[in-house]
Amino acid sequence: MGDFTPFPVIGKPEPLLSLVEVSKLYDGATPFLALDRVSLDVREGEFISIIGPSGSGKSTLLHLLGCLDRPTGGEVFVQGKPLSAMSDDGVADIRRDTIGFVFQAFNLAPTLNVFKNVELPLMIRGVPQKERQETVSRNLETVGLTDKAGSMPWQLSGGQKQRVAIARALANNPKVILADEPTGNLDTKSSREVMDHISSLCRDRGLTVILVTHEQNLAGMADRIVRIVDGRIAPEARKKGERRRFA
Ligand SMILES: Nc1ncnc2c1ncn2[C@@H]1O[C@H](COP(=O)(O)OP(=O)(O)OP(=O)(O)O)[C@@H](O)[C@H]1O
Ligand SMILES: [Mg+2]
Repeated sequence: MGDFTPFPVIGKPEPLLSLVEVSKLYDGATPFLALDRVSLDVREGEFISIIGPSGSGKSTLLHLLGCLDRPTGGEVFVQGKPLSAMSDDGVADIRRDTIGFVFQAFNLAPTLNVFKNVELPLMIRGVPQKERQETVSRNLETVGLTDKAGSMPWQLSGGQKQRVAIARALANNPKVILADEPTGNLDTKSSREVMDHISSLCRDRGLTVILVTHEQNLAGMADRIVRIVDGRIAPEARKKGERRRFA
């Protein structure tokens, strides 16, 4: 009789994004270690918020998670594949197909109306017109801006502009939305409105969301809070439902 072969172990699915002991050293006259051996797994469908003081490394972390930059130490894995093994073109493909970005400054093209702003990434990808039309309409509906399709960015409120930016980030049907202080320029009501859209994307569409914010009431809407201090993850991270342990 042969050796006993155990049943294959069916493990947890691969994290969507994974940082393993990742560091980022900004080189220059005074080199600065912005991230120091950070490890983080992001699973599909998770809503994570990243908090921490100004200059602690939040945006740097988000840039690495979004494959906008490469680490100077450690490894970034996207769906189990190491970034260091990919060419710059390969990384650009991953970014385009997997990740949608929403930043604090709305970055809408000022001379294009709402519809065309959301359509832009699809044009760049060479998507045929009929499909572009359908996708833009669907995404504008998702963020509740169907009636503003013909408006110019200057005719919109801050919250509406940010929702256009979300619709645009959704254009390529990404797996994950990375948002860096998306409500930083907004009043409380608009912030809430934008956050409600972001959290419903996660809940209803199973989208993965990683949100950098300094507002703790917004951070609290996430499943998990990751706190960065001096380029390292602080141990106060909590799961939803647990008592808050950070001040
Ligand atoms: N290109 C760069 N060259 C040198 N240092 C940099 C560079 N970019 C960022 N840093 C430094 O790295 C540290 C982390 O910056 P980062 O932008 O990640 O902070 P942050 O947590 O997003 O801050 P904030 O809340 O103010 O946006 C800061 O001390 C910053 O000065
Ligand atoms: Mg920042």
